Amino acid sequence: MRIKLPANLPAHIAIIMDGNGRWAARRGLPRKAGHAVGSENFRTIATFCRDIGIRYLTVYALSTENARSRPPGEVEGIYTLLRKYLDESLQKMARDRIRLKFFGDLSPLPPDIRALIDKTEEVSRQYTGFQTNICLHYGGRDEILRAVRSMINAKPDTVDEAAFSARLDTAGIPDPDLCIRTGGESRLSNFLLWQLAYAELYYTKTLWPGFSAKELTSVLTDFSRRNRRYGGL
Ligand code: IPE
Ligand code: IPE
Ligand code: MG
Repeated sequence: MRIKLPANLPAHIAIIMDGNGRWAARRGLPRKAGHAVGSENFRTIATFCRDIGIRYLTVYALSTENARSRPPGEVEGIYTLLRKYLDESLQKMARDRIRLKFFGDLSPLPPDIRALIDKTEEVSRQYTGFQTNICLHYGGRDEILRAVRSMINAKPDTVDEAAFSARLDTAGIPDPDLCIRTGGESRLSNFLLWQLAYAELYYTKTLWPGFSAKELTSVLTDFSRRNRRYGGL
C-alpha cells in the first residue's frame, strides 16, 4: 500500500473505538464477533501508528459505563479477548517494541487479567519509541475524582494545572492532539475529559472493525490542515 503522509503529524492520537456491535449485526453475527475483529484491528492500527512515527496512541476499550450497563456475558467476552490480546502482546513484545500502559480503575478486573497487565507494563517499559495506552474500566469523571482524592490534603495554592495533570492516568504524557471517534456518534462518552480540552475532534461513520490505515491517513491529512488557535488569533 502506497501511503502519502502529511509532514505535521500529531504526537498523540486518541481513538474511541466504537461500532463493533453494529459491525457484527450488519453481518448477522453475534456482537462478540465484532469485538474480536475490532481487537485485531486495534493491533493493526497501533502498528501502523508506530510505523509512521506517532509517539502516543490512547484508545478507549471499555468504559466504566460499559462495565456497569452491558450484559455480564458481553463484558466477559471482552475480558476473554483481552486475555488473548495480552498473551499475544507478551509473546510478540520483542518484535513489536511497543510500550503498553493501561489506564482506568483496574481494580474491578479479574485478578488474572490484572497480573497480565502488570507483567505487560513491566516488560514493555524498556521500549521508548512508541507508547500505546489502553483505557479499561475507564471513565473521565472517575479519573478526575481519583486525582482529586489523591490531592485532597494538598495546600490549595499548590493545586495548579500541572500538579493536577500529574495525578491523572496520563501523567507525564502530552495531551492528545487529535481524537478520532468511529461508529458515527459525535460525543465523548466520558473519554479523557480533562486531556481533550484542545484536541482536534474527528468523527467518522466507519465502524471500528472497518477503520483502516488508509482512512487514518486521510484523517491525518485533514488534521494537518487545521488551524489550532488555542484561544489566540
Ligand atoms: C465499542 O463498540 C466497544 C465497546 C464499547 C466495548 P460497541 O460495543 O459500543 O458497538 P456498538 O456501538 O454497539 O456498535
Ligand atoms: C464508548 O462507546 C466507549 C468505548 C468505545 C469503549 P459506547 O458505545 O459505550 O458509547 P455510547 O454508549 O454510545 O455513548
Ligand atoms: Mg457503542
